[in-house]
Amino acid sequence: MRLPDSLQEAIERECAPFSHEALRDASQQLSARYQESAPSRFQSPAARAAYLTVRMPATYAAIHAVLNECQALSPTSLLDLGAGPGTGSWAAAALFPTLESINLIEQSHPMVEVGRRLASASASALLRDASWHCQSLQDPLPSADLALLSYVIAELSSAQTIELLERLWSQTNAIIVIEPGTPAGHQRILQIRDWALAKNGHLIAPCPHCFACPMQTPDWCHFPARVERTRMHKYLKSGTLGYEDEKFSYLAFGKTSVKIPFGRIVGPVKKRSGFVQFPLCTQGKLIPQSITRSQETYRLARDADWGDAWM
Ligand SMILES: C[S@@+](CC[C@H](N)C(=O)[O-])C[C@H]1O[C@@H](n2cnc3c(N)ncnc32)[C@H](O)[C@@H]1O
Repeated sequence: MRLPDSLQEAIERECAPFSHEALRDASQQLSARYQESAPSRFQSPAARAAYLTVRMPATYAAIHAVLNECQALSPTSLLDLGAGPGTGSWAAAALFPTLESINLIEQSHPMVEVGRRLASASASALLRDASWHCQSLQDPLPSADLALLSYVIAELSSAQTIELLERLWSQTNAIIVIEPGTPAGHQRILQIRDWALAKNGHLIAPCPHCFACPMQTPDWCHFPARVERTRMHKYLKSGTLGYEDEKFSYLAFGKTSVKIPFGRIVGPVKKRSGFVQFPLCTQGKLIPQSITRSQETYRLARDADWGDAWM
């Protein structure tokens, strides 16, 4: 996965005024805050440029992977909450041809300005014409078919999260929440799952059932999205590999039911000579699968990846 070319070029223009050293310092501070799950602070222009280079490609890849599992939603309007530079809206514009309007909510005024500049470089009129609102999530929000909260719930208290979900539930048809793929991120997703089921919400992904989550500590439900690294990304993260795997946890749910798969692949897919193995979450259980060459599903299994729906 890589960013759309027009977005990558716009990011490079945003970063051009900064020395490599300034971006590396800002990137290290950003990574430290992310590891500590501290709220985003985009106070300096270099911090915002560093976010675009080292975090936006990763969150874009995670959001893209999630929205890909939610194609059945076909939303006509999107509310991108805690939008940052508009990462979620770029992914949604790439994946949902049904979208007609986007509203982005972001509290940081300088980040809204960055997001507007990036969007103005897009070939998509949907992104260029999107409405940016520099305001808090606690303020009144526009209605939409689909509300997207990507990498933002960690920055809210539990009470703020529930209050926000209550309002969104009365103003939207479906909600998607994406969090870092950590045990803490998964716990937040589980709390939202309980809340959604109590509201008689229909789960869309990743859960293929409404039973209690079978994932037990020390495991937690998370998925990887592989991100191609640019030369600058490698330099800023002192990385040698040409890619990194962004781990994320998520939940998509809505007011109307969509067809959900029999199971979800919730761990690495081991492809060996003559057989394929993976853990499958289905009907409230985690069931290890071992599919051999003689089985009808073998070809499907050879093409399967961690995170895919299974049949
Ligand atoms: C980690 S960034 C994620 C940005 C973007 N959604 C992404 O996935 O790349 C979290 C964003 O949420 C914004 N945010 C946090 N709390 C907020 C609030 N109460 N109201 C509006 N924006 C908020 C922050 O300013 C920050 O830009």
